[in-house]
Amino acid sequence: MAKPKRRYVCQACGSVAARWQGQCADCGEWNTLAEDAPKTVFSAKHDLSSGGRTIAFTPLDQPGEMPRRRASGLAEFDRALGGGLVPGSAILMGGDPGIGKSTLLLQVSAHIANHGGLAVYVSGEEAAGQVRLRAERLGLSKAPIQMAAATSVRDILTTLGTMDPPSMLVIDSIQTMHSDQIEGAPGTVSQVRGCAFELIRYAKENGVTLILVGHVTKDGTIAGPRVLEHMVDVVMSFEGERSHQYRILRSLKNRFGPVDEIGVFAMEGDGLAEVGNPSMLFLSGREEPMAGSAVFPAMEGTRPVLVEIQALIVRLQSGATPRRAVVGWDNGRMAMLLAVLEARCGLNFSSAEVYLNVAGGYRLSDPAADLAVAAALVSALGDKPLSNNAVWFGEVSLAGEIRPVAHSSIRQRESAKLGFERGFGPAGGPGAEKGMKFTGLAMLPNLVDRILSDA
Ligand code: TYD
Ligand code: MG
Repeated sequence: MAKPKRRYVCQACGSVAARWQGQCADCGEWNTLAEDAPKTVFSAKHDLSSGGRTIAFTPLDQPGEMPRRRASGLAEFDRALGGGLVPGSAILMGGDPGIGKSTLLLQVSAHIANHGGLAVYVSGEEAAGQVRLRAERLGLSKAPIQMAAATSVRDILTTLGTMDPPSMLVIDSIQTMHSDQIEGAPGTVSQVRGCAFELIRYAKENGVTLILVGHVTKDGTIAGPRVLEHMVDVVMSFEGERSHQYRILRSLKNRFGPVDEIGVFAMEGDGLAEVGNPSMLFLSGREEPMAGSAVFPAMEGTRPVLVEIQALIVRLQSGATPRRAVVGWDNGRMAMLLAVLEARCGLNFSSAEVYLNVAGGYRLSDPAADLAVAAALVSALGDKPLSNNAVWFGEVSLAGEIRPVAHSSIRQRESAKLGFERGFGPAGGPGAEKGMKFTGLAMLPNLVDRILSDA
């Protein structure tokens, strides 16, 4: 028999190479290729067309059962999930180290356990004593959570087999789990995939909500093994800046609900507190207008959130390459906006360093941010403060048009509620809301004229 071929699997993206290389050819990560268990070599006569069982087809319009959902007790958590925990589903939760994943899941487990559910929390990262200390700090040490420190999936599944299936099973984290059936160290793609597969199968067969904590790679995408994202029903990411108080729970994929709602939390001394009305959190609340600062009424699902966008422009004397740095927004999008401002409005950023920051550690994903970012950049460039009772929203095209965006009226109404009086947005839209004076801008040069001439 031929010797099984060696194969190497990238631990970051899961792609397979025949030879070891320092850099993965697919995702470009360095030192991520590791030898994987040899693949079964199929014989040429590989026939699957007989010998199986027949499966039943059903029409789509058959009355099906809607998944029952269980409230977690944290309304913001349920909101991000699209309405609570679905039994028999698998959720992957990613997030930077120290952002609060373990804290959040311990709080959710405690609530389920306190309300008649059975919650099992398996920690592969911390010793049982450490988890107990955290629970004490959160005031949850009385909650009847079934807690264990374990890393062997066989031990975990054997134990679960001897008891009633829990309502919720937390595995913190999937990268620490290992299966003795699979070669390789914990955290390698084959281990992570194999362990997740077994745990998900257990969850589906027993109607358990499984939550897998996953680590996040440097560039912020969920967990080395992208393969996991395909295996689970829901992918959530817990975001925020560790130095800031606010945390946002976002769902990136959801087989049972929408993906545009967020949950907002504040990290406090005794754990994560829910923030029911987040619209003001990301405003800095200063009195004096400052050049380079613009307020943007963002939409997160059905909720408006007002955020302050700050730009700083530093002219360089020497011919050094100017820096561009963006925190909380897309790098490529800022480069595009700078190019449009140069090409369509004749502004010159080429010898200047450009810094852009979204206040409060918030990450913007709403395309309507373009106009507010442009306003902040132009204001910083011309050193002209924008009126501090104004908000800005609209999408900018490569031609320099300001394009209409969704939810113009909700954005304005929330702004008016928070004391703003002027709105600048796309021309030809639905117009002003009560309490707001709205100015429609058709093209980016209109915005530039308005800011630079309006001293
Ligand atoms: P943790 O849940 O351990 O993060 P993760 O599991 O995502 O790595 O959160 C740890 C951080 O949260 C830690 O830096 C301290 C902070 N924290 C608080 O501020 N208040 C608290 O009540 C707790 C438990 C943690
Ligand atoms: Mg943790």
